[in-house]
Amino acid sequence: MSEQRGYVVWLTGLSGAGKSTIAEALAERLRAAGQRVEVLDGDVVRQHFSKGLGFSREDRLENIRRVAYVAHLLARNGVTVLVALISPYREGRDYARQLIGEFVEVYVRCPIEVLVRRDVKGLYAKALRGEVPNFTGISDPYEEPLSPDVVVETDRESLEESVEKLWSALAQRGYVPQTIPSGDGRR
Ligand code: ADX
Repeated sequence: MSEQRGYVVWLTGLSGAGKSTIAEALAERLRAAGQRVEVLDGDVVRQHFSKGLGFSREDRLENIRRVAYVAHLLARNGVTVLVALISPYREGRDYARQLIGEFVEVYVRCPIEVLVRRDVKGLYAKALRGEVPNFTGISDPYEEPLSPDVVVETDRESLEESVEKLWSALAQRGYVPQTIPSGDGRR
């Protein structure tokens, strides 16, 4: 049996930019290609092992440290890990990259005006009314990646296009075969 090589795809970007949606769509394709995949999503992680953490710089860095640690454990056991965290600080993302090694940084980019307009969770409207303190992009910083491995632009690309872009970046690094499976679970 061939050993699966573990790696981490780290999706960073503002709330609502599409990190979770892309992670789920990519996960489906990777599973169809026979990989063992875990998705570590900010909203979910914060209900479990990051419960109690807030959104100060310190707490966000702690959140990232925890997720990076678990991602590292999984990846070294051959699991493909898709992380979807705002992870607004370069310091946090650089820490994760160093710890994990097999690391692909993906900037899920979407202009703030578009996010405010979409506002799926209603959080931007609240933040603009001053009802959510330290809201990333409104009243808290987001440090754009300086040299991400992949940039996806969710206001201009379809989900399918973003997933294909990611797939070819993974193929270039030898993590997946060149051809993308259909994603319907058949092999
Ligand atoms: S991170 O900064 O620590 O990486 P994480 O991705 O876990 O953030 O959580 C972000 C999610 O928490 C957002 O999608 C949003 O639903 C919710 N949230 C609640 N308060 C805030 C806030 N002040 N800033 C950003 N997101 C917030």
